[in-house]
Amino acid sequence: MSVLITNVGELVTNQRGPGAGAAMYGAAAGEVGAARPPGAGRGGPARFAALADAALVIDDGRVAWTGPASRAPAADQVIDAGGRAVLPGFVDSHAHLVFAGERGAEFAARMAGQPYQAGGIRSTVTATRNATGDQLRANLRRLAAEMLAQGTTTFECKSAYGLTVSDEARSVALAAELTPEVTYLGAHVVPPEFDGNQRGYVDLVCGAMLDACAPHAKWVDVFCERGAFGRDEAAAVLAAGTAAGLEPRVHANQLGPGPGVQLATAVGAASADHCTYTDDADIDALASSATVATLLPGVEFSTRHPYPDARRLLDAGATVALATDCNPGSCFTSSMPFCIALAVREMRMTTQEAVWAATAGGARALRRTDVGHLGVGARADLVMLDAPSHAYLAYRPGVPLVAAVWQGGERMAGG
Ligand code: NIG
Ligand code: FE
Repeated sequence: MSVLITNVGELVTNQRGPGAGAAMYGAAAGEVGAARPPGAGRGGPARFAALADAALVIDDGRVAWTGPASRAPAADQVIDAGGRAVLPGFVDSHAHLVFAGERGAEFAARMAGQPYQAGGIRSTVTATRNATGDQLRANLRRLAAEMLAQGTTTFECKSAYGLTVSDEARSVALAAELTPEVTYLGAHVVPPEFDGNQRGYVDLVCGAMLDACAPHAKWVDVFCERGAFGRDEAAAVLAAGTAAGLEPRVHANQLGPGPGVQLATAVGAASADHCTYTDDADIDALASSATVATLLPGVEFSTRHPYPDARRLLDAGATVALATDCNPGSCFTSSMPFCIALAVREMRMTTQEAVWAATAGGARALRRTDVGHLGVGARADLVMLDAPSHAYLAYRPGVPLVAAVWQGGERMAGG
């Protein structure tokens, strides 16, 4: 059955092409920022684009038509958007949703002046190992439902809190029940039973643990950071994962300067995530590669670290994605609208850049061409806002503006 959504005040398509015509605005009007260098546009639409007074047709779970409402074709069902905005569903390319327990007291202590310490991860590892599969599944489903209600229609999910062969395998298998974007992050921290034997743990991550996890995963990730894994260890983990058929992504330069970004670009990782402490060479490396810089401003909000320099990355021509990093330690938000508001207010991204980064940027970071935009043929993953434009996501921070969500053409949330 086809569905026509008409009377859309602003239809964010992130798509240039037939049907867009004169009503298109945004990048074409010079609102998005400096021209991107050659190469930055690889792998899909590179810029925010939207249509005013628009309509969209969904058929068979896909976008079948977009254009001016006045020229909309007939459909089996008609929905009047009443001038509200419709956007591509958000693509959250970085989340750690398989865990047990919580660390609210650690957050409160940070807000009272304590620094963020990645060592807190170990307490979540203990709670996760002690949880039943059903407990982990229930928590994961609750968080995924939270995301969906806030407009996220595609999410990535990492393992990261099991850190034994069986606990990591359980984590990736649970994640795979809900998303194809599953990441094996056995190399998160060295668990206590390997204290003094970092080498032994890296061997396990590259050996038996990888063998158990690879069948359920698409990605391999590593926390390349002082106190976690160094450059050579991280390179070994990524090489082993790649040899097992996984694609690389990297937790890079989160807590201080380091080799993570350079490693990510050198191995052709899909994404270097965090990028909080970057120097000129890091920015150059990201701007001249296809590796997406995935920024996670909820982490800086929740740890009081400085925000990454999104402006420099964008102005240099790097591809930027926004994601939540939803996890119980460094950032416990599942809300992409909150991250968009932070990106606009705290990282000086324009509203268009932030929305692009949370949709098409996330898709790039996951090497997906079927989501993050509303071009004809895209998966019909849509968010309708109770607002006339995408800018309201930052203009009205903290207000639940997501009025309805479609996933693969099916209405999932909203009245
Ligand atoms: O992305 N960087 C490492 N891992 C998570 C934090 C996990 C935690 O604190 O539990 C992150 O911030
Ligand atoms: Fe993370």
